[in-house]
Amino acid sequence: MKSPELENKVAVVTGAGGVLCSALSKDLARQGMKVALLGRTLSRLEELQQEIEAEGGIALALSVDVTDSVAVQEAADKILTQWGPCKILLNGAGGKLPGTVTSHPKFQPEELLSGSDTIGFLNADLNIFRKEVDLNLVGTAIPSQIFGRQLAQNGGGVILNFASMTSYRPLSKIAPYSASKAAIINFTQWLSVYLAPAGIRVNAIAPGFFVNERSRKLLYKEDGSLSPRGAEVLQHTPAGRFGEAEELIGTMNWLIHERSAGFVTGITVPVDGGFLACAGV
Ligand SMILES: NC(=O)c1ccc[n+]([C@@H]2O[C@H](COP(=O)([O-])OP(=O)(O)OC[C@H]3O[C@@H](n4cnc5c(N)ncnc54)[C@H](OP(=O)(O)O)[C@@H]3O)[C@@H](O)[C@H]2O)c1
Repeated sequence: MKSPELENKVAVVTGAGGVLCSALSKDLARQGMKVALLGRTLSRLEELQQEIEAEGGIALALSVDVTDSVAVQEAADKILTQWGPCKILLNGAGGKLPGTVTSHPKFQPEELLSGSDTIGFLNADLNIFRKEVDLNLVGTAIPSQIFGRQLAQNGGGVILNFASMTSYRPLSKIAPYSASKAAIINFTQWLSVYLAPAGIRVNAIAPGFFVNERSRKLLYKEDGSLSPRGAEVLQHTPAGRFGEAEELIGTMNWLIHERSAGFVTGITVPVDGGFLACAGV
C-alpha cells in the first residue's frame, strides 16, 4: 500500500539481493518509494529490480561493495542525480565469510598442529577475521556516512541497521561475526545520539534465525534434515521455527515512519520468535 509519507522518496538498501533485504526492498517499493538496490552481485539485483518493476514499482540495481567508500560515494552521486536525496537507508549488507566459522564450539588440541583441517581460533586467519569485521561494521559505517550527508542536507531521515542474536551474547563458532554485530548495537546508539540534531533517527533490527544461503549450511544437513546446531536453535526458539523474511516488514515500517516512530531512536528491536527471552532450561 502506498505511503503518503514516503511515496516518491528515495530508499537505499545495501545487501538488497539477500533473503531479508529483498523482501524489505519490495515492501518499500510497494509503498511508492524509489528503491536503490546495492550489493556486489549485479545479476541478483537486476532480477530483483525486474520483480519490483513488474509490480509497478521503481528500483535501480547498483553493484557496490559497501566496504569501498569510493564505490559507495559513486553510487550515492548516481542515485542523487537520477532521483534526488536518500530519505531511508537500510544497512543490510553483512554476514560471515568462509574460513571464520570454527569447526568446534570450543578449543581442540588439533588446532595447534600445523596442517590441521580443524579451524579454531588459535589457528584462524586473522586477515579474514578483519575482513568480516570490516564488512559488518565498517560496511555499515561507510553508507551511514555517505548517505547520512544526504539525509543531513535534506532535513533528516532514517537509518536502519542489522544486528543479530549474537549481538547480545556471543553464539559459538562465529567470533568475528559476533563481535561486529555486537558493535552494531553500540554504533546504532552512538550514531543516533550524534545525528539527532540533523533530524536523523538511527535504529536497528536484530533478526533471530532466518534461513539464508549461508546459514542453511549451518542449520541443515545435506539431506535436508536439521543439523545439531539447527535443532539446538529451534529448541531455544519458543516459536519453534525459523523466521520468514516478511516477518521483519512490520518492524521496519514501524521504525521508518515518523508518525509511528518519530520519537524512537537508538534502539535495537529483536524479531526472534522469543529466542532472546529463552534461557533454554
Ligand atoms: N538471516 C538471518 O538469520 C540473520 C540473522 C541476524 C542478522 N542477520 C543480518 O541481516 C542482514 C541481512 O541478512 P540476510 O539473511 O538477508 O543475508 P544474505 O541473504 O546473505 O544477504 C546479505 C547480502 O549482503 C550482500 N553483501 C555481502 N557482502 C557485501 C559487500 N561487501 N558489499 C555489498 N553487499 C554485500 C550479499 O550480496 P553479494 O554477496 O552479492 O554482495 C547479500 O545479498 C545481514 O547483515 C545479516 O548479518 C541475518
